[in-house]
Amino acid sequence: MKILLLGSGGREHALAWKIAQSEKVDKLFIAPGNAGTAQVGENVPIKADDFEAIGRFVTMHGVDMVVVGPEDPLVKGIYDYFKANDALADVPVIGPSKSGAMLEGSKDFAKGFMKRHGIPTAAYATFDGTQVEEGCRFLETLRPPYVLKADGLCAGKGVLILDTLDAAQRELREMLGGMFGTASSRVVIEEFLDGIECSVFALTDGTHYAILPEAKDYKRIGEGDTGLNTGGMGSVSPVPFADEAWMKKVEERIVRPTVEGLAAEGLDYKGFIFFGLINCAGEPKVIEYNCRMGDPETETVMLRLKSDVVDLFEGVAAGDLDRRRVEFDPRAAVCVMCVSGGYPGAYGKGYPIADAQPDGCVVFHAGTALKDGQLVTSGGRVIAASAYGSTLCEALDRAMEGARTIQFEKKYFRTDIGRDLGA
Ligand code: AMP
Ligand code: GLY
Repeated sequence: MKILLLGSGGREHALAWKIAQSEKVDKLFIAPGNAGTAQVGENVPIKADDFEAIGRFVTMHGVDMVVVGPEDPLVKGIYDYFKANDALADVPVIGPSKSGAMLEGSKDFAKGFMKRHGIPTAAYATFDGTQVEEGCRFLETLRPPYVLKADGLCAGKGVLILDTLDAAQRELREMLGGMFGTASSRVVIEEFLDGIECSVFALTDGTHYAILPEAKDYKRIGEGDTGLNTGGMGSVSPVPFADEAWMKKVEERIVRPTVEGLAAEGLDYKGFIFFGLINCAGEPKVIEYNCRMGDPETETVMLRLKSDVVDLFEGVAAGDLDRRRVEFDPRAAVCVMCVSGGYPGAYGKGYPIADAQPDGCVVFHAGTALKDGQLVTSGGRVIAASAYGSTLCEALDRAMEGARTIQFEKKYFRTDIGRDLGA
């Protein structure tokens, strides 16, 4: 079969790497892809949210399935676009409908959904531009730190955690005043949850679900999880505290009620669900939903998924995911992301990359390009070294060695990925 994968980051290279291993696949296209995806498939110069161009390509090349990497096309309704178009309606899109993608596209919708279905999450209230003073008074009833979330998509920048009431009230005024444009025309104010985070992933066909290996990501730029937030500096899988008993709670209290809730509310959802969880004294609570896989979690989760991912996608499309086998690799996996110096602030691009295939690692490109045949950096997050190990520690040592081997000017990576979990 022919598959078209949408997106261009490390997550997409990891998905492409896994899809390309399937015996079911004759041809893999990636739109627009990066220099890494070009090693396992054929890049096509189409933007991931240019629905018309994607539709034309699918028809012209007889693509049998579209797999969506990032949230943007999903929140904008690529699933619905295909369903509404006679020539495309029979081509499965792996990803939720626009209404299902609201789990990620609107924090207020996600909170309401969790409330309706009794799914454990932080207490909250939502305010719009006409309720600034009410919002400020509500903050006075909470204890610090204060969590403010823009309702809409903000490329990962819409969550503020403030230590003082003053700062929280000031930021609330700014957010409701248009700090993030329409995305912050409503703001969710949330109880602060203390604990270690864990990302759990499921694939669903709308009725059944398959839980994939869990992972933990490292978001901050600095060692010891300090400094500014990034698109992700590394990830580990498995997560030691996510043992069988904890994952059973996650499945019973969170995954199953979510899938059942989506079906009960008539939200068409055939794709990945990403549960951003926090472990509060042994109890899992939902911090956020995403309607896609995580980045850089995918760069370890795909290493640990033993099953044919395309077989699972076929199960999603056919509605018989319960009859597909989901097997995990028992080994641990760690991903260490190399970024360009200066990121997440200003950074240079176009630096040549050398030694990009370190031994013992699977390398995933995030922001790379080919310029006159030379591999160069083209983003802040550049290239990731992922590795297996019989323990997290062994996997980390290998991935770290890989990150050291890869060379480009001003390269930076964190050396403490997984250390908080005992790696
Ligand atoms: P989100 O975009 O909702 O994932 O939020 C971004 C990050 O903010 C999360 O990964 C958490 O680290 C943090 N965060 C969000 N909500 C809360 C909360 N209620 N309590 C503590 N930390 C939070
Ligand atoms: N790693 C977090 C995310 O993909 O949103």
